[in-house]
Amino acid sequence: MKRNIYCGDVRESNMGEEVIVCGWVHSRRDHGGVIFVDLRDREGVLQIVFQPWNKEVFKVAQDLRCEYVILVKGLVRCRPDGTVNLNIPTGRVELVADSLEVFNASLGLPFEISNYSGVVSEELRLKYRYLDLRRPNFQKNFIMRHKISREIRNFLNEERFLEIETPFLTKSTPEGARDFLVPSRLQRGDFFALPQSPQLFKQILMVAGFDRYYQIAKCFRDEDLRSDRQLEFTQVDIEVSFADEEDIMDIVERMLVRVFKVLLGLELKMPFKRVSYDDAMLRYGSDKPDTRFEVEIKDFTQEFKDVKFGVFSSAILNGKIVRGLCIPKGASFSRAEIDGFAKFVGDYGAKGLAWMKITDTSAESNISKYFNEDEIEAIVSKFSANPGDLVVFLADYEKVVVQSLGALRLKVGRECELIDKNKFNFLWVVDFPLMEWDKEECRWQALHHPFTAPKCLQGLITKENADKARARAYDIVLNGVELGGGSIRIHKSDVQKNIFDILNIEKDSTKEKFDFLLEALSYGAPPHGGVALGFDRLCALILGEESIREVIAFPKTQKGIDILSNAPSQVSDKQLEELGLQITL
Ligand code: AMO
Ligand code: AMP
Repeated sequence: MKRNIYCGDVRESNMGEEVIVCGWVHSRRDHGGVIFVDLRDREGVLQIVFQPWNKEVFKVAQDLRCEYVILVKGLVRCRPDGTVNLNIPTGRVELVADSLEVFNASLGLPFEISNYSGVVSEELRLKYRYLDLRRPNFQKNFIMRHKISREIRNFLNEERFLEIETPFLTKSTPEGARDFLVPSRLQRGDFFALPQSPQLFKQILMVAGFDRYYQIAKCFRDEDLRSDRQLEFTQVDIEVSFADEEDIMDIVERMLVRVFKVLLGLELKMPFKRVSYDDAMLRYGSDKPDTRFEVEIKDFTQEFKDVKFGVFSSAILNGKIVRGLCIPKGASFSRAEIDGFAKFVGDYGAKGLAWMKITDTSAESNISKYFNEDEIEAIVSKFSANPGDLVVFLADYEKVVVQSLGALRLKVGRECELIDKNKFNFLWVVDFPLMEWDKEECRWQALHHPFTAPKCLQGLITKENADKARARAYDIVLNGVELGGGSIRIHKSDVQKNIFDILNIEKDSTKEKFDFLLEALSYGAPPHGGVALGFDRLCALILGEESIREVIAFPKTQKGIDILSNAPSQVSDKQLEELGLQITL
């Protein structure tokens, strides 16, 4: 006997058919002589009826318990009036069991699957991941994840991209995280690094003439875990020759339009909005702004230069800036709540928070005595503030102000429920700085990676004008999450040398890491560029999940541990000896 239909697929159209279903007992109810079993497979739940006059089968059904795995053959019929359940797709039908085979019993469960309450600890859920994954929500998530990757592949294949694999056992990639190292047995004392991305190899594939490459690639980064970060994750990795920024952004947009249309029935509008990095930092205090709500940061450094409030005027005199945020209807916040905001921004280094409640006649405030009517009018006008709004200001160094107000903007958006959760707001962030000054190491660092092409400056980039250089890079942001990023690459060795000089790469060990790419670039490298999207993040956002752990079958915990298989773990002395390694802890 073999299954011929999924439980979740049975409909009224199957009425009168004899079907065979397999699955797990989701629940069992004994209704005075008739036994009902909700049988679950990956597609859904089907009600099975065991009638007492089918004595042998009924007897076996009496012993069924949750999560027993069984096969049932029977006739599909309509549920009698009054027993229809419109909450589930199979709710109009049921299967009258004719025969039953029990493949396997199950131990008592560490937590309930059918009636999941959410109080089960994440640790327990991950230890028994195979049970947790049986929950309908997870089954739905992984079916969707599969469909998203299928649609992405379909799109890229139709666009004549080639899917090419790149190695896992390789050398360090310049993505800025720590490497995972793998000791070599054959070359004792040497190590491979797992790829942080296929970056170097995809560029070499361009030099090799493959001109349109993609890979749904596993990447490895030894960094601290968060809800949108794992030690290993998946990228939709793309590289294209003879292409500029517009071509790459167009491919990504059309790919996403296709995914959202086919899988969610949503029409995304092209082209996606764009914002420059400087503008994003000014207006949203973030390089990955959530634009689902309108609240924007405004700069008052010019306006407040000569105000009576010494905290502001003297800060500005000392090279600091003043920026503010208008919280719609925020005037109803209590003093304690506003003090809470001040404490919140304190965590980002801010030393206080000035505020004004906008009313019909005046502004109630901790600083209003320092401001005259015209100045208050100017503030109200710049924010287009309404009576009942709350305006807050911060004076400090730019970095502190940007980070504090950026974080406060998000907190307010969430807590005041200003965010429209049904929106998918895509945004390209462009015109990134090429380099940033690393105070600790006293040197320039590439903001993306050292192969990102600079936008045309007059002449060469020098250490003096490096802060003005912009990158031919672009990030794609969805609802405040960095979904992906990419750039046009340097394909000329003189430009690459110039950048390496500024980054001081010649003089440190990094150069040796990338020598093979540099050499490849000098054998007729075509102009090229690309992008990588975080595939786990894309799936989580499409499914409305808060954490990428909900779309990764076997994720690591916050501490970077796989509880299910108990990894990482110690290895035998023999293995260490073969590798020439010694543990000195
Ligand atoms: P980048 O480092 O920006 O670019 O990575 C691309 C995207 O990958 C996702 N991502 C992650 N997802 C889960 N866990 C992580 N630890 C993690 N780290 C990154 C993000 C991110 O936007 N080689 C370049 C791309 C290119 O230039 O073509 C790169 O890897 O969504
Ligand atoms: P004062 O009149 O000096 O007590 O200051 C009035 C308010 O200014 C206090 O409530 C502080 O929270 C606020 N304040 C102090 N420093 C800053 C700052 N750097 N930026 C914004 N507000 C500040």
